[in-house]
Amino acid sequence: MLDLPSIRRQFPILSQKIDGKPLIYLDSAATTQKPQAVLDRMQKFYGEENANVHRGMHVLAERATVAYEHARVTVQNFLNAQRPEEIIFTKSCTESINLVARSWGRAHLREGDAVVLTVLEHHSNVVPWLQLKEDLGIDIQWIDIDDHGHLKTEMLDAFLKKGNVKLVAVTAQSNVLGVRPPLPDIITKAHAHGALVLVDAAQSVAHHQTDVQELDCDFLAFSGHKLYGPGGIGVLYGKKEHLESMPPFLGGGMMIQEVHQDRFTPADIPQKFEAGTPAIAEAVGLAAAIEWIGQYSWEEIEDHEQSLIAAAVETLHVIPKITILGPGNGGARHGSASLTTGALPLQSGCLSFVTEGVHPHDLTEILGRQGICLRAGHHCTQPLHRRLGITASTRLSVGIYNTEEEITPVRTAVIQAVKKLSS
Ligand code: ALA
Repeated sequence: MLDLPSIRRQFPILSQKIDGKPLIYLDSAATTQKPQAVLDRMQKFYGEENANVHRGMHVLAERATVAYEHARVTVQNFLNAQRPEEIIFTKSCTESINLVARSWGRAHLREGDAVVLTVLEHHSNVVPWLQLKEDLGIDIQWIDIDDHGHLKTEMLDAFLKKGNVKLVAVTAQSNVLGVRPPLPDIITKAHAHGALVLVDAAQSVAHHQTDVQELDCDFLAFSGHKLYGPGGIGVLYGKKEHLESMPPFLGGGMMIQEVHQDRFTPADIPQKFEAGTPAIAEAVGLAAAIEWIGQYSWEEIEDHEQSLIAAAVETLHVIPKITILGPGNGGARHGSASLTTGALPLQSGCLSFVTEGVHPHDLTEILGRQGICLRAGHHCTQPLHRRLGITASTRLSVGIYNTEEEITPVRTAVIQAVKKLSS
């Protein structure tokens, strides 16, 4: 079992009070808090190792380069990628997906080719493909969800049968409903029809083990700040053969072998995709976060977070006029205490809800004044909210440091806020 008091002590930000009340941070799907180990590692980098990477011959340049490349190997091991050069550092998960769209997409897609998305996707896994639709005339096909938020995967079968699907771009975990698409099934089917699969793992990497070889995905993207690491660092994993088939995304220093007045030859991967000075301290901080989370087992993390989500469903679903979106609602209302069926929990990391007659922004503002941090809005998923027939929702999301004691006050605060706002 996780030692929660010890974990919480490692997050200095969590010990503060807001207006005399303990801070309750339930917004880890937006960004996670950072443990002292990450803060210390970045401080050490700037205090003892800072220099540019791959450029200088001096002692600091060597330390910085070693630390940066150690970070790449740390990410490689974290994802169980076959090779370090399959790990590209970017500034965010969003940039990683844009890299695939602009580089792989422009090299391999033609008018009439199709990219399959799901209505669960975050805008970062929608807009880059819509931009390609505008530029190249590709088709976008959408997999819908059922009333509990689960993908209607039979739609994928129908799309794949048409023969023009070149890529399926799918989230590993919805940032609104917390549902987890059946990736192994999707990837097997896509590959059987010659399509590649990009996994947006932004919401899953902090909650579940990620093994790109076992998944056999072609690309996988995530960002450091949702994994207890710093902002400004993202990762793109790509299979070597795909990355090698792709032209550079950004041009500049370090991504070349040779530059002439009329031409250039790109560097090999991964440098080909890392133009300019990278986010060095942030990569080092991300490695520290990965090493930090590595001291806990995924089983313990999953058990703990699953009980938090189950507690949140049980706590919130009895509030009058509340509707929990997705499987939490169905599970609780049909009397099933467990949110787990088979290997995949139905809902992970977060749950979202609407309260009749009360706008989520007003609700979260009132809760925020009491130190309870939830997120409101469309959570950068307008297609999903439109599909659900709403414009906004309130989201509660958890991290390794949350406790069940933090969930209980949310009910009282929501009940009081709803009463106040609807009177
Ligand atoms: N994508 C982040 C969220 O869902 C910012 O809140």
